[in-house]
Amino acid sequence: MKKFFAVLIAALFLVTTPAQAEDLGVGLSDISAEKFNVSIEKFYATLPKAKGDYKSRQRPIVIEGAMNTETEILIRALKNPVAYRELNYLFVAGTYKDYPVVIVRTEIGVANAAASTALAIKKFNPVAVINQGTAGGHDLSLKIGDIVIGEKSFDYTAFRSAYSAAGAGIDLTKQENIGTYAYDKMSDKFQAYTEYFADPTLFNIAFKVANANENFNVVSGVIGTGNSWLECVDYVNFLHEKYGSSCEEMETNVAAQICQNADVPFIGIRVLSDNVTNDNRYVPETAKVAQDFVLLVVENYIRDVLKK
Ligand code: 5AD
Repeated sequence: MKKFFAVLIAALFLVTTPAQAEDLGVGLSDISAEKFNVSIEKFYATLPKAKGDYKSRQRPIVIEGAMNTETEILIRALKNPVAYRELNYLFVAGTYKDYPVVIVRTEIGVANAAASTALAIKKFNPVAVINQGTAGGHDLSLKIGDIVIGEKSFDYTAFRSAYSAAGAGIDLTKQENIGTYAYDKMSDKFQAYTEYFADPTLFNIAFKVANANENFNVVSGVIGTGNSWLECVDYVNFLHEKYGSSCEEMETNVAAQICQNADVPFIGIRVLSDNVTNDNRYVPETAKVAQDFVLLVVENYIRDVLKK
């Protein structure tokens, strides 16, 4: 009887399991944070939960990361951490170097990064936002573990393709960047921005930190954002040549866009976790490098700008 049920269940599995998807390289399970560190959620569950609204005499610095692997070191670096949840996004407020800092786990992708950035601005009134995490290289010379300080960012999926007739085939290289819409103070209107620039003060401090810490391999560059993961080397090379992209990821440009709406200084800082142009596969542990570097940037920003 037992055997009969085992065979029946196995048969049901065969019928109901969908066909294996074609292997496209990195799968969702590969990038899920839980696969690499199951203990983080347990640690987060131990954090005291916030009671009431956030109150701080000084405006905090917000640091964002999409996944557990990209936020754990930052959260563990906070003194007196308190967890907030808004629309199920996690925000952890505490202090770093005796200055208020809030870590936001934005979750993956543009909608989540935009929503959680907007919530963070409304709830915490930050003096600056730093978006950081992993990224895929668009530049042959960049290696796994290298850091890109985003001098600017753009949305590589925001384009109008050239017209071509039915049956003419697909050529995405004939395209124009049409940008994304953000608030412009001067005209008091939303207008299209094909790129967003880093706050110059944050940019200079990030560079100062890079020069003073030779254990980090740092370049300044252009961060490309989209809800996509490109493994087509010709297309990646096209984006690199047309837009100068150093790397691709899924959050920076929308966080920059929301910060532009709210007039909050912003910078994106990314570590290369993969690079299809030189065949370097995804290494999630690189997320540590970005967090270590960003903590130094934050320390310098607090000391040289905020506490002056
Ligand atoms: N393409 C897109 N996103 C990437 N990320 C790391 N490498 C890449 C890549 N090659 C980041 C994104 C997202 C998660 C999947 O990892 O920002 O949060």
